[in-house]
Amino acid sequence: MAENTAGLRGITAGETALCTVGQAGTGLTYCGYDIHDLAEHATFEEVAHLLLYGELPTAAQLASYQERLRGLRELPPPLREVLERIPANAHPMDVMRTGCSMLGNLETEAGFGEQDHHIDRMLATFPGIITYWHRFASDGTRIDTDSDEASIGGHFLRLLHGSTPDPLHVKVMHASLILYAEHEFNASTFTARTCASTLSDIHSCITGAIGTLRGPLHGGANEAAMAMIEDWQTPDEAETALMGMLERKEKIMGFGHAIYRTSDPRNAIIKEWSRKLAEQVGDARLYPVSERVEAVMQREKGLFCNADFFHASAYHFMGIPTPLFTPIFVMSRLTGWAAHIKEQRANNRIIRPSADYTGPELREWLPIEQRG
Ligand code: COA
Repeated sequence: MAENTAGLRGITAGETALCTVGQAGTGLTYCGYDIHDLAEHATFEEVAHLLLYGELPTAAQLASYQERLRGLRELPPPLREVLERIPANAHPMDVMRTGCSMLGNLETEAGFGEQDHHIDRMLATFPGIITYWHRFASDGTRIDTDSDEASIGGHFLRLLHGSTPDPLHVKVMHASLILYAEHEFNASTFTARTCASTLSDIHSCITGAIGTLRGPLHGGANEAAMAMIEDWQTPDEAETALMGMLERKEKIMGFGHAIYRTSDPRNAIIKEWSRKLAEQVGDARLYPVSERVEAVMQREKGLFCNADFFHASAYHFMGIPTPLFTPIFVMSRLTGWAAHIKEQRANNRIIRPSADYTGPELREWLPIEQRG
């Protein structure tokens, strides 16, 4: 029987030197480094440098990279005005999409020689774009999007909460942003590469990728997982409700994966951070509920948590509002998208696959009065 290739599953659609999924190490590598090593030892900025420039930075390179990013955090006034006009009930991913696109109008990429600068600028401004809108939409506060926080994750938390972030939370953000940074030819990255293959500008590539990441089958799963687990007060209640959902053949968000078959290597890492955060906040509900859901899914369906499931409780424990979960994914995956765009541009041929035609045979033209 022919293999089912719907969704291009199993089809190799190009080459990359950036990442392997389900092939080496513990299951995920960036430029040859295992995700467990990166998540345990590196900062997100080191991983961004690795993806974008091919090597981990030296101490001097890292210091100057962070300094450069820190200097690019302010939002241009017309972008702030646009953000203020976006309705308070808008989806934050739509805010990210519009914010990125507006930035591209104000600071258009004039040539590929500028690409690194625009990538830096997006890395530096994305936390400000989402938190500026969020704070303005919530209570009319116009925040200053410049901060002295060394890291992108710490900067995001400071802008969101208006206070110095807890050191544990900064560590979790590093790990989280590292885990989400890159994942080979996933849907949003493939969108970015397809757009890049037409020789379009970098803001168009990233805007398209944001729109693709928005869907619940891709980046939106952590929000959907949170919406599900926050309803449950005890592990037993969770199990009963979950059994009903499985009986009704509902998709359980945060489980399963298109490539991994037995486990998602990112899960163990974020799960451990979620456990530590649960301890810190004295949680006796969300973490045990999440663990029960994990056990029931394994027992009933043989399905495992993907990176999104324990991200839901981890982000929640850090006081991050659920609708902002996927925009954090954007702040991180931006590095993977941008690295793929650079790779595509360096060896480009327009991406243009073919389709198996399933429509009608050739037909004769009918003048309008003869149809019906
Ligand atoms: N809940 C319930 N059943 C699931 C499931 C889930 N989360 N994920 C997969 N399944 C089922 C499928 O329905 C399918 O059953 P079927 O053969 O009876 O139709 C079977 O398991 C195999 O699915 P698979 O081929 O492995 O999935 P896929 O490659 O088509 O889709 C996902 C992969 C990620 C889109 C899918 O697992 C999913 O929708 N997960 C929930 C959303 C999510 O967490 N996304 C984030 C991904 S990182």
